[in-house]
Amino acid sequence: MLQSKHILIGVTGGIAAYKICTLIRDFKKSGAEVKIIATPNALNFVTKLTLQNLSQNEVYVEEFDVKNWKPEHISLADWADIMLIAPATANTISKIAQGIADNLLTSVACAFSKKIIMAPAMNCNMWQNETIKDNIKILQKRGIEILEPENGFLACGYMGKGRLCSSDKIFNAIEEALNYSQMLKGQKIVITAGGTIEEIDPVRYISNYSSGKMGLALAKSAYDMGADVVFITTKDFDVPFKKVMVKSAQDMQNAVNDEFDSSNYIIMAAAVADYRVKEHSEQKIKKGEQDSITLEFVKNPDILAELCNRKLFNCSETNKNEILRFAQNDVQAEESHDVKSACNDKPVIVGFCAESENLLENAKAKIAKKGCDFLVANDISRKDIGFGVNDNEVTILNKNGDILKLDKAPKNIIARKILECINMK
Ligand code: PMT
Repeated sequence: MLQSKHILIGVTGGIAAYKICTLIRDFKKSGAEVKIIATPNALNFVTKLTLQNLSQNEVYVEEFDVKNWKPEHISLADWADIMLIAPATANTISKIAQGIADNLLTSVACAFSKKIIMAPAMNCNMWQNETIKDNIKILQKRGIEILEPENGFLACGYMGKGRLCSSDKIFNAIEEALNYSQMLKGQKIVITAGGTIEEIDPVRYISNYSSGKMGLALAKSAYDMGADVVFITTKDFDVPFKKVMVKSAQDMQNAVNDEFDSSNYIIMAAAVADYRVKEHSEQKIKKGEQDSITLEFVKNPDILAELCNRKLFNCSETNKNEILRFAQNDVQAEESHDVKSACNDKPVIVGFCAESENLLENAKAKIAKKGCDFLVANDISRKDIGFGVNDNEVTILNKNGDILKLDKAPKNIIARKILECINMK
């Protein structure tokens, strides 16, 4: 599975550095290309020659040992598919967490935009140190995977948690991460996020509590899985993929429609306003003498339902014939939905729904009404999940009536599971 993969290993100055030697051999045996960056302290524990012979590549130590026009910390970061830092000392962990780039290894980590896995190893009291714990949390929050140290006898004479985890565990984590990064390769995924903003006048608007976090988590996970992501959002986030900023439901619909034909998946995580004010005022509405005012609202387009209809009309001839056959027999709505379900052509369309009561019942009715392939039901009656917060707990329904509940977890974990689920359709 590692054939031709580029693995960059950062070795830091801890006694566990010697264990990396066998790991390098395992990666090489599996067909990977390995390059090593060693900190000067790492070379107190393992020689440059050993690392060089095992990796069959030059070992990089000095930041300013410049060989070509591109600085080493950029060219190594560009070359690698994944970066492993093992053993990761408390010192290197803390520097990377705080963005300090004072040697080649920490500079590369700072410039690295792909997956980083760290396997810490240190004295058990250092591992329990509150600053180290905080720094580990910072790294995890940024998507760096931490392979926690194991319990056992430590080289310093202590017994406790601090030993580098097993080589098998590190190898498997690298293999899994590299497979994961290919899971959606070649797939274009459009993801909407945030609450739409429906203007009343230049000062006021109507919107909702959606922060865009769920949509962002989906977009980031899809990107990590190798997808070509188009992120259509009302909230401005810094992202390394295509972002289209929109405001109203109508803007959002135009942006999604533009991407429809070329996309493999469309995920509507945005909270779209069902209504907008009938007459948007160009000027600020002034306070008058009256005690109340009335605004008249008109229906917004139902983006999701219209996408599903568009897909229906684009679907294969066989399915179209089926649809016509049912239409001629003047079938009931229920049956015509079954026919809609028979249409499997792209894009796969995923709706979200936010429900404050009768979650499953309402979600079942909504997937039938809108005709999407999947619907992700969110319980917004709870304060610890759904709108605005970092966690979520959802139930995924598909058009065949299957149901999958995902327990409460951070939105990035939920996002990953949703993508895995819709990709296995
Ligand atoms: O953004 P966060 O703070 O992280 O919160 C996440 C979330 C709770 C907003 C999100 O997970 C969620 O549930 N999004 C959908 C909210 C919503 O609009 O639900 P709905 O039941 O009103 O709509 C159902 C589906 O139809 C949605 O996919 C929606 O995008 C779509 N829709 C709705 C109305 C409309 N006019 N056009 C649409 O396309």
